[in-house]
Amino acid sequence: MKRAVLRAGVIGCGNVAGNHAAAYRDLPGVELVACADVDPDRAGRFAVRHGAAASGPDDLFDHGLDLVSVCTPHPTHEAVVTRAAAHGAHVLCEKPIATELGAAARMVAACEAARVRLGVAFQRRFWPAARRIRAAIDDGTLGVPVLGHTSVLLHRDTSYYTADAWRGSRAADGGGVLMTQAIHNIDLLQWYMGEAVEVSAAHAAFRHGEATEAEDTAVATVRFASGGLATLAASTALTPGLGTRVLVSGRTGASAGLTEYPEGTEARIDLWAVPGAETSAPPFGTGLAADPPLSRINGALAPFHTLLIEEFTDAVRQGREPAVTGREAAKSLAILTAAYASAASGRPEPVPAPHEETTA
Ligand SMILES: NC(=O)c1ccc[n+]([C@@H]2O[C@H](COP(=O)([O-])OP(=O)(O)OC[C@H]3O[C@@H](n4cnc5c(N)ncnc54)[C@H](O)[C@@H]3O)[C@@H](O)[C@H]2O)c1
Repeated sequence: MKRAVLRAGVIGCGNVAGNHAAAYRDLPGVELVACADVDPDRAGRFAVRHGAAASGPDDLFDHGLDLVSVCTPHPTHEAVVTRAAAHGAHVLCEKPIATELGAAARMVAACEAARVRLGVAFQRRFWPAARRIRAAIDDGTLGVPVLGHTSVLLHRDTSYYTADAWRGSRAADGGGVLMTQAIHNIDLLQWYMGEAVEVSAAHAAFRHGEATEAEDTAVATVRFASGGLATLAASTALTPGLGTRVLVSGRTGASAGLTEYPEGTEARIDLWAVPGAETSAPPFGTGLAADPPLSRINGALAPFHTLLIEEFTDAVRQGREPAVTGREAAKSLAILTAAYASAASGRPEPVPAPHEETTA
């Protein structure tokens, strides 16, 4: 019999974990019971702050959890998610699902075999502006999307790449601005435009090259199965950062765009170029803003984590798939896999099948 109140845990008590804890506190029908970290001091402080029991990663599941949020660094996601699945806990994993497609496929397979749900935290899909554009595609207002653009023009201090041992190494992080920041926008683009089939990309390290072997700047073009085309420009080397933008034009000729500026604020529709309903807003409002600290950027995302977690817990209760499944999250990783391959080969590269099981 299903419990009335879902018992939740958090694994990895760093920057983003507070957003998950806040959602479990604020949502009815779910409570944060326990948290774990490889660093016991971090787990202890987080437990006190959020009224949960501190635990080591191995003991966490002794607390009889229904679900866990995985908020550990990207390269650990596979091991942590598969362990949670083996304990029968539903899993909400932070993005990116993994840094390579084989790991993502194994995570999906492990959760399916254990009959637990796997959701991935692309909380920007829950911006009302993002959903309005999706609705305008679904109801035919825009028509089939044929042209997309996203810019992810951000600021990070070099210290961002040096403060935590796992950041900035290609082996650990799997990449730079594409893997860690732009993946949110690539997820939105593919949500709007459908299956991606080919990517051409180039990247460089213009500003943080001393601190990271991964790219701090990248450009790409993406071709979709529909025949649609999209471009991307992404960087963490700008001061001040210029926020993020997604723009989609459909076969009807109508266009819609959203802006997240400054980074971490709720995106708003900045362009609604639909005949008879035209509106536009300047992307930078009253002017450029100073770059907010990372803690404020992450904190400002919390309301959208709450919406995503509400949808995920509803899915668990109702025994259905969540809005952003592991399979869905693997699609943006497949586009990135092709982008990195293209940057290395200098040629357009096909987007690999996101769900192919590999032994890698
Ligand atoms: N959805 C978003 O907008 C968003 C925002 C920030 C971070 N993230 C993602 O969340 C993840 C974590 O990022 P962060 O900035 O919070 O990192 P962080 O370094 O601040 O925190 C990670 C924590 O995990 C712990 N940890 C590492 N390996 C572990 C393991 N095997 N078991 C248990 N604990 C372990 C570390 O000790 C640390 O406390 C990343 O994958 C990142 O991409 C997503």
